[in-house]
Amino acid sequence: MDGTILSNVIANQTIHEAYGGVVPELASRVHQQNIVPAVQQALVNAKVDKNDIGAVAFTRGPGLLGSLLVGVSFAKAFALGKGIPLIEVNHMQAHVLAHFIDDPKPAFPFLCLTVSGGHTQIVLVKDYFDMEVVGQTNDDAAGEALDKTSKILGLPYPGGPLIDKNARLGNPDAYQFPEPQIPGLDFSFSGLKTAILYFVRDNVAKNANFVQENMNDICASVEKRVVTILLNKLKKAALQYGIKDIALAGGVSANTGLRNGLKKLGEEMGWNTFIPKFEYCTDNAAMIAIAGYYKFLKGDFVGQDIGPLAQMPF
Ligand code: KG4
Ligand code: ZN
Repeated sequence: MDGTILSNVIANQTIHEAYGGVVPELASRVHQQNIVPAVQQALVNAKVDKNDIGAVAFTRGPGLLGSLLVGVSFAKAFALGKGIPLIEVNHMQAHVLAHFIDDPKPAFPFLCLTVSGGHTQIVLVKDYFDMEVVGQTNDDAAGEALDKTSKILGLPYPGGPLIDKNARLGNPDAYQFPEPQIPGLDFSFSGLKTAILYFVRDNVAKNANFVQENMNDICASVEKRVVTILLNKLKKAALQYGIKDIALAGGVSANTGLRNGLKKLGEEMGWNTFIPKFEYCTDNAAMIAIAGYYKFLKGDFVGQDIGPLAQMPF
């Protein structure tokens, strides 16, 4: 065990497409069906026998309780059956720690903009498990805003990747959406969502085909505004803390506009920027494994009395 990732199996859930979003009860049932085959596949890919596993790391939270419960229960049973240590991992810390899978690795302290479907955080990372959220959303997450926008535009779930794809073909300056004036390092995305809703409603009233005719420009303009909201606050945080090692994490860090925007801003500001490989942006097993590895080195284990947490602060 040396921190090398041997496999990174992801069991995708397509069932949610039919409902335009994640249905929590269905998600946990599909987790139940997938967990044993996914673990078996991971062992095959890694060429490791289950009897040679030295510890089990699992996501304790934050997230959907039913889905977390499946992972927690499996991990506890596996650890008990094999007599090996059990390691709890915080999902949002794991997104940040995905930067320690490959080189180059950021140096402490660094700032990480962690943007996912459920969270939007600027994290001051002082050590592997010493992290402070210095800015966060007051309402919707950035990914949620993109997913809701795609729903308004009639695109299938999950919307973030489709907005990204369409935005590459559109004009980001075609439409102007508001940037909220939120004090400090916090964010707000609910006003943007409402502005998009009214913008689409008003234009569709004048031209029923407005969305279809202007899809790429709308996606590019929305993406641009989400990216500027995120990067303006990140710049403010970097200046406030005097930090030049700046990282990106979470599902929305797969977004092309955000990745390019951070690269460009980093060059302007003289930052060392860290952008994860695509496979380590959206939820994945490798980020839980690397977080588990660093806890294993500290001997930071938990007992069988542990349960999942829907909310789990650092
Ligand atoms: O971290 P993640 O996989 O799951 C959560 O912890 O929520 O993040 C999922 C979010 C979704 O909102 C999804 O639309 C967004 O990440 N996302 C993207 C892209 N890929 C995933 N958003 C914009 N552009 C992308 N390419
Ligand atoms: Zn996530």
